Amino acid sequence: MSVIILGIESSCDDTSAAVIRDGHLLSNLISTQQVHEEYGGVVPELASRAHQANIVPVVDMAIKQAGIKLGDILAIAFTRGPGLLGSLLVGTSFAKGLAIAQNIPLIEVNHLHGHILSHFILTSNQTQVPGFPFLCLLVSGGHTQLVLVNNFDDMQIIGKTIDDAAGEAFDKCAKVMGLGYPGGPEVDKLSALGNPTAFRFAKPLPHGLDFSFSGLKTSFLYFLRDNLEKDPNFIENRKYDLCASLQHTIVTILIDKLGTAARKLGVKEIALAGGVAANSGLRDAVMRLGKKRGLRTFIPELKFTTDNAAMIAIAGYYKFKKNEFADHSLTPQARLPF
Ligand code: KG4
Ligand code: ZN
Repeated sequence: MSVIILGIESSCDDTSAAVIRDGHLLSNLISTQQVHEEYGGVVPELASRAHQANIVPVVDMAIKQAGIKLGDILAIAFTRGPGLLGSLLVGTSFAKGLAIAQNIPLIEVNHLHGHILSHFILTSNQTQVPGFPFLCLLVSGGHTQLVLVNNFDDMQIIGKTIDDAAGEAFDKCAKVMGLGYPGGPEVDKLSALGNPTAFRFAKPLPHGLDFSFSGLKTSFLYFLRDNLEKDPNFIENRKYDLCASLQHTIVTILIDKLGTAARKLGVKEIALAGGVAANSGLRDAVMRLGKKRGLRTFIPELKFTTDNAAMIAIAGYYKFKKNEFADHSLTPQARLPF
């Protein structure tokens, strides 16, 4: 019998539902909340309310697009954390209610495990999956980690940011340039037209395999302030070079540590995951690193980089195979341990 899993993701500002059959993607619906744009960042209270409005239609559409019936679903996987508590509560409560109504089991998924396991979603484009162990660079709006993935349920953080996440560095620098939210995709787009070595910013490289991005953010701010004193139109005049140089700096910091970690651990496979994995400069740089070192390299399809329920459903599928189900008394956790 085939195993059909419904995945639900509501940890931040995207309401998403996906259906996976035996590891193959049948549907993946994402409703991105526009309401936060005018505030330049996610407003938690507004995010919870938008999830509440979106979740039923999004799940309904995901089931319809998958071409299945509600009764075909064998289990419901949902994001338990980490994320915004109010947002997580909507997804968790909905998942519990539907699981009770359908008399099927619930599966809790750690959002970060979901990002990493997105490499196991099978589609017509994504047919190869990593072999264990592999080294994953996980870069999102809230996290920046190097993870040694020994198995679906055995992952070890070997390096992490000691302050800001890579996505935060993109978003905060974009904000001071007056670009929209989230800033990462904007910086990426403008970078294509700029010179990546036009400007030099601080590149803090803490000891070992850890990362740091707050110094870069500060150096970027001071650099803008100094130049704006001389030329009030500095940002407008040089935005392409500013974005290209910023992106180049962030990518260099990430690749430096990924390369060191891969050598230290002697892994044969590397992978990239999380929202910042959508960045074109980073995708190219990871591909180049893999090629240079002769490593099997996995870059996720764009739709599996930023938050999506397909990654929650695939993580749920592998837990289902091990009969790892969740109790209905569990609560979402804003700071769920890795
Ligand atoms: O994984 P994700 O969707 O949400 C979290 O779990 O945090 O990641 C969102 C982050 C944001 O910081 C966003 O700016 C960044 O991913 N991002 C990008 C790009 N697309 C999304 N950063 C750089 N370049 C992109 N193309
Ligand atoms: Zn995420």
